[in-house]
Amino acid sequence: RLSADYLRALPKAEVHCHLEGCVPPKTAVRLAERHGVALPAGARDGGDRYRFLNFDEGLEIYLAVCRSMQTAGDFEAVTYESLVTAAEGGLRYREIAFNPQNHPGLTYDEMVGGILAGARAAQEEAGVVSRIVVAINRQFGGEAALNLVRDVLAHPHPEVVAIGLDGDEKAGRPAEFVAAYDLARAAGLKLTAHAGEHGDFTEMVECLDLLGVDRIDHGYAALLDPALLARTVASQIPYSACWFIDYPELEVEGRRRDVAAMAAAGLNMCLNSDDPALIGPELHEDFIDAAVHLEWTVEDAEKYALAGIDASFADDATVGRLR
Ligand code: ADE
Ligand code: ZN
Repeated sequence: RLSADYLRALPKAEVHCHLEGCVPPKTAVRLAERHGVALPAGARDGGDRYRFLNFDEGLEIYLAVCRSMQTAGDFEAVTYESLVTAAEGGLRYREIAFNPQNHPGLTYDEMVGGILAGARAAQEEAGVVSRIVVAINRQFGGEAALNLVRDVLAHPHPEVVAIGLDGDEKAGRPAEFVAAYDLARAAGLKLTAHAGEHGDFTEMVECLDLLGVDRIDHGYAALLDPALLARTVASQIPYSACWFIDYPELEVEGRRRDVAAMAAAGLNMCLNSDDPALIGPELHEDFIDAAVHLEWTVEDAEKYALAGIDASFADDATVGRLR
């Protein structure tokens, strides 16, 4: 049986982690007070954890935390704190997603500038490397998504490696975002999207066929469609799965069963914390729990540590150094 100390020290990488889901309740309360933002009760009175009963309530807290991050300095502080915390659990690489559309008071460049400053300080102090994924929020629709990608291309940063798609899967079909994805692809950005987390597998097929994604975030619904499963086993497109969930209505056992089934089916899957402060703990906790439930050997643990690096959109030289 692998020890918790070994799994914590094991150098790990993750490609699916939302910056605004990395803000601990104490930090959120401090930022909200500073900027006069009202937080939902579940963000104020849960002590060290946020308190919510289902995905929609969790998303409501997430959006309130977003509204509480109003300056480049807020982005810098949140990025630095989250990366240094994760590095204590052995994290060596993270692809940080953030939602510019959820922070209307700031320009794109102010937000990226804050993230890069925090990331630089964390890399110097704790050795953790990071890149940025600009996430489109589904609820704002295709036109706003296209404008966001235009904004990204007008302010190029080598650390911004991809666009993503997240938020409420009920709020918009992938087809709405074809123009935004086409523009990003033409500019050389990589493409990922949340799909098959709560929605059905047809969302995932649309992400592959219409958006041409290079990676799928979550993707559990693939287990319900043999054709999609066979197709993505054959292509070995990476899935960024998330082991722990904190939605009482879904229960963590069901998620463990899904991720175990995806691994058994032969998908190219890595483990990710998603929203470590909101939905689940830091990545080393996922590794410790997965090792027990999947009866990992040392080789399995090393395989999953490398899977996160190989799923990354960083340049080959960076991936080579991390491997
Ligand atoms: N935004 C932050 N976390 C998310 C998740 N797990 N699914 C969809 N959108 C999100
Ligand atoms: Zn996510």
